[in-house]
Amino acid sequence: MSNRSLAKNHADTTVLVTGGAGFIGSHTCVELLEQGYRVVVADDLSNSNSEALNRIRVITGVNDDQLTFYKANILDAQAMNRVFDENPIDAIIHFAGFKAVGESVVKPLEYYWNNITGTLTLCKVAREHGVKNLIFSSSATVYGDPEFIPITEDCPKHNATNPYGQTKSMIEQVLTDLYVGDTEWNIVLLRYFNPIGAHESGLIGEDPKGIPNNLVPYTARVAVGQLPYVHVYGADYDTPDGTGVRDYIHVMDLARGHVMTLDWMGGACGTGVATTLGTIAGIPDADGSRHGVEIFNLGTGTGSSVLDVIHAFGTACGRELPYRIEPRRAGDIATNYAACDKARDELGWVARYDLKRMCEDSWRWQSKNPDGYRS
Ligand code: UD1
Repeated sequence: MSNRSLAKNHADTTVLVTGGAGFIGSHTCVELLEQGYRVVVADDLSNSNSEALNRIRVITGVNDDQLTFYKANILDAQAMNRVFDENPIDAIIHFAGFKAVGESVVKPLEYYWNNITGTLTLCKVAREHGVKNLIFSSSATVYGDPEFIPITEDCPKHNATNPYGQTKSMIEQVLTDLYVGDTEWNIVLLRYFNPIGAHESGLIGEDPKGIPNNLVPYTARVAVGQLPYVHVYGADYDTPDGTGVRDYIHVMDLARGHVMTLDWMGGACGTGVATTLGTIAGIPDADGSRHGVEIFNLGTGTGSSVLDVIHAFGTACGRELPYRIEPRRAGDIATNYAACDKARDELGWVARYDLKRMCEDSWRWQSKNPDGYRS
């Protein structure tokens, strides 16, 4: 069966967003809806809250025809079949997956099963419905300890230090092989750096269950007084202030990156010179749609240290935040930031927001919703 063409109006294009109630998924839904796409969300709500969908409706003002929600797990082929049978899906943005690094170490079976088998099921059902346009939510974690910095898409992949990271890397391989076996697939792997921030309304944001593992959600809980201080994991790295350096990116920049990727997959923008597979990837078909497997880093290209983040968040919330220097966290690397030239040249995408704005928006979300969507 041939693939659906993406070379058409946004209003005539239906996008399935798996994990659309989650952090990056919900912000991407807002951006898709604001750009006129029709959105179908499939989310099992295992690590998200349906309130996020209500908030998306408030922000965008759309009705149930433009945003449809299915409480469905991507492992459930029957449920996914229903989603495809009942909606004219043209493309998939695939976020659904378990994502807690530490938990993945103690629950490897659950992580490999959920993330990998879930993706295989999703792709199989999609193929059966003639849908072969897919954007995958990957991560800079696939570079492991990177061979060079700034990290370009050509930087060799290295083993991730945990099953979560391995699933990202393995799914990238599965999707690449899918295209090799059937060149009608039109696949983009987006490797995110460190997504933070929130929609400027403060209505949607990151809502981790329990005590957060990542720096910014943890710092946000310190800022609202729910946790006493920030643990700084190591001040003896070979970095300007000794703390780890990361490329933090505003989640709305990331969301816009997905929409621009979708436009590019339908034939927009690009010059057609990208050749990740050394194939004709990136060249539009006769009808304007593309086929291939492409990889884009989405980051800002700027590194910020742990102390930079704590200070920027302190400025955003109006008080200095307490922190303590502690030993390094296992599996962490010193420095990690992106080269984003390829996304700029091919997609026409460049991150707009700086660390100050990211912290202001994270703070607005956290202060308005101190207990997340349960507030
Ligand atoms: C982590 C994951 C990565 C995942 C990403 C999702 C690891 C090794 N990597 O990236 O696979 O894709 O989250 O956003 O877990 N830090 C502190 N105190 C804290 C938490 C973190 O000092 O309480 C430091 C870390 O040592 C690091 C920086 O802050 O230098 C960022 O950490 P974090 O937010 O957890 O992201 P990553 O580890 O870069």
